[in-house]
Amino acid sequence: MRHVIFDTDPGQDDAVAILTALGSPGEIEVLGISAVAGNVPLHHAERNARRIAELAGRADLPVYAGADRPFTRGLVTAEHVHGSTGLNGPDLPEPTMPLREGHAADFIIETVRSRPERSVTIAALGPLTNVALALLKAPDIAGRLEGIVLMGGAYFEVGNITPAAEFNIYVDPEAAAVVFRSGAPITVLPLDATHGMRSTEARIQAFERIGNRTGAAVAAMLRFSEVYDLQKYGWDGAPLHDPCVTAFLLEPTIFEGRAANCEIECASALTRGMTVVDYWGVTDRAHNCFFVRSGDSDRFYALLAERVARLP
Ligand code: BDR
Ligand code: CA
Repeated sequence: MRHVIFDTDPGQDDAVAILTALGSPGEIEVLGISAVAGNVPLHHAERNARRIAELAGRADLPVYAGADRPFTRGLVTAEHVHGSTGLNGPDLPEPTMPLREGHAADFIIETVRSRPERSVTIAALGPLTNVALALLKAPDIAGRLEGIVLMGGAYFEVGNITPAAEFNIYVDPEAAAVVFRSGAPITVLPLDATHGMRSTEARIQAFERIGNRTGAAVAAMLRFSEVYDLQKYGWDGAPLHDPCVTAFLLEPTIFEGRAANCEIECASALTRGMTVVDYWGVTDRAHNCFFVRSGDSDRFYALLAERVARLP
């Protein structure tokens, strides 16, 4: 059983990642959701996190708001991908469950410290601001975590917000640098893995065919994401990023990768947020992550549909 905090900036793909976990109660206990500014400003992100919890029938989940901006930079958002609210597509009601009091970074610290050593995993689906704040405020939690499994970065696929950088790392590269230097066990699901996970029409219809409200909402989310991504890439479906984190937690054999060193570019304007991965071991820099390169998209989508089918 994995005990997981989702740190997230929902985002349709963040939503599918969280829903997949909530549909896997025998394997993942979701300890709470911490919202961070990213795809949309913080007030939308935390509201969307509560809408997702309620969609899954989990109004009991603790949801916290965290950083409303990156460490040192102005916030860059992605409404052009996710819509004005960040969760455009399905018609989800306003949430009624409360937002918990306190900062998300403190929730992360207190949760990790109050639980047995190496029992808590952070699933990081957005810019790493909250996670880095927690690690700076309480460096001891790096050694207490089971791991940080994050969606971010790229090596072979390079960038999606600039030619050099993936969105989550680009938005707050200084925070990402703190995380990668923290000593915590890190697994990276980069664009190299997520670009292979494409939401073809047949895969979207499989969510609709489940016949529950969550499956219908997931299908509507994926159809919305298509609008931007299909034009951009010209592929047979839009890449589905953040659910790769949950799929890795549930079925790591879906993916292939290797231990590597990853450093974050913070200085250059041209390559800000680039993940400089020593994939081929051409330096003696110590490994600081497991960097995933690819995955089996049929197994991935079958897993997602199976878990979404267990929800209301
Ligand atoms: C990442 O950026 C966001 O738009 C998605 O939610 C995902 O976390 C992909 O680059
Ligand atoms: Ca995200």
